[in-house]
Amino acid sequence: MKDNSLQKESRADRFASDPRIIEAKKLILNTMEEYKQKITVISPSDPKKELRYKELIEEFNRMRGGNLWYPYIGSGMGNGALVELLDGSIKYDFIGGIGVHYWGHNHPDIVDAALNAAIENTVLQGHLQQNFETVEFSELLLQNSTMDCCFFSTSGAMANENALKIALQKNSPASRILAFENCFAGRTLALSQITDKPAYREGLPDTLYVDYLPFYDPENPEKSTEKAISVLKNHLARHPKKYGAFIGELIRGEAGFYPGSHRFFSSLMSILKKEGIAIIADEIQTFGRTDRLFAYQHFELEEFVDIVTIGKLSQVCATLFRKDFQPKPGLLSQTFTGSTATLRCGKMIIQSLLNDGYFGTKGKIQKLHEYFTAGLENLQKKYPNAIKGPWGIGAMIAFTPFGGNKEKVLEFSRNLFRDGVISFIAGENPMRIRFLIPVGAVKEKDIDEVLKIIENLLKAE
Ligand SMILES: Cc1ncc(COP(=O)(O)O)c(C=O)c1O
Repeated sequence: MKDNSLQKESRADRFASDPRIIEAKKLILNTMEEYKQKITVISPSDPKKELRYKELIEEFNRMRGGNLWYPYIGSGMGNGALVELLDGSIKYDFIGGIGVHYWGHNHPDIVDAALNAAIENTVLQGHLQQNFETVEFSELLLQNSTMDCCFFSTSGAMANENALKIALQKNSPASRILAFENCFAGRTLALSQITDKPAYREGLPDTLYVDYLPFYDPENPEKSTEKAISVLKNHLARHPKKYGAFIGELIRGEAGFYPGSHRFFSSLMSILKKEGIAIIADEIQTFGRTDRLFAYQHFELEEFVDIVTIGKLSQVCATLFRKDFQPKPGLLSQTFTGSTATLRCGKMIIQSLLNDGYFGTKGKIQKLHEYFTAGLENLQKKYPNAIKGPWGIGAMIAFTPFGGNKEKVLEFSRNLFRDGVISFIAGENPMRIRFLIPVGAVKEKDIDEVLKIIENLLKAE
């Protein structure tokens, strides 16, 4: 922070650094370590708890009006990549709430940041109340991006909504949207029109006009790039001056970790730029998981991207934009934009990503990627009919079991869960198994254990 002297001179700062508070925090963190250390290996559920757990899950499913994807109700305790559930089981969490728990479970730095938040005056920060961490967090994101402004929100969907509103207001009355085929952008009324899954908008009214571009095919880089350009040109010719914004992921996450390339994106984006169409990079899932902080930096698209949205591992979500996209008063506001704990913990994770050797071609993320994918490649050689891949970039890793057959992959993911590994599915036809590994917590020995469990399931087929 350029100038944190006001915060340093405050009563809150003196309170937080009072020796009694420091001692109390030390006691909590040391006690936590003692309990954590008992969680060292995966274990099945406790038979004495099974029936009560089943009833609890059923009750919760009834209350929320729909079934949980996995029977997961956490105890509130874990150790690194391992998490304890209320049925007494211990599992490897290699999906982290779909990419949220990047530092794993009970990480001392996260708990310390959350404790600092807990002793502040309010739980939430927002419209009429911003404490200093909101200022610091904004500055951290802006200093490490090519954006000028940062607006926080509490979900990825809201960050994308805000991005679209900013883009469409600037380019009004142009209101059509361009997106990639098979994309996922969120589930609000507007975003469900963009997310390329009819089931996610069943029964909803049409609110936006969206046209799609085919994505990059690494098997046919030139052809797929030419095809996307030609589809884009056709859309532009069919609806001249009608497009206000393009929104897209640079590595398609929900589809199963399909990255594009610099040439592919820059070819499309230079046309969009010439047409004055706002370019939004949806980095809700990809942020912080490649060899750079932002995926648009990984693909060297700094000159093109106007607005970028982040979420998940940042704990609080945000819409970052260039100053010429600054919205008119009234367009953006939220009662609260994040909790004090999410702001402090998100800032801590990003600072560590930037300062502790996670990025770069030889960074921790790349090393973990290489270690895990080498193990999966090994399995692919041993069981060539049972597994294809691996695919992905950085902390996003996927593979296709059993030819990507939907029923079999769903069963595989549930069996993985039963046997102690939490993953998730991605894409359809072929469907993949994906992992968003907790890079701030995972060790090579954890990956070895996960690979053994995957192998046992492949063998059993
Ligand atoms: C690319 C992308 N955009 C938007 C979202 C929506 O984020 P949220 O679920 O936090 O609203 C997601 C969530 O998975 C996502 O992966």
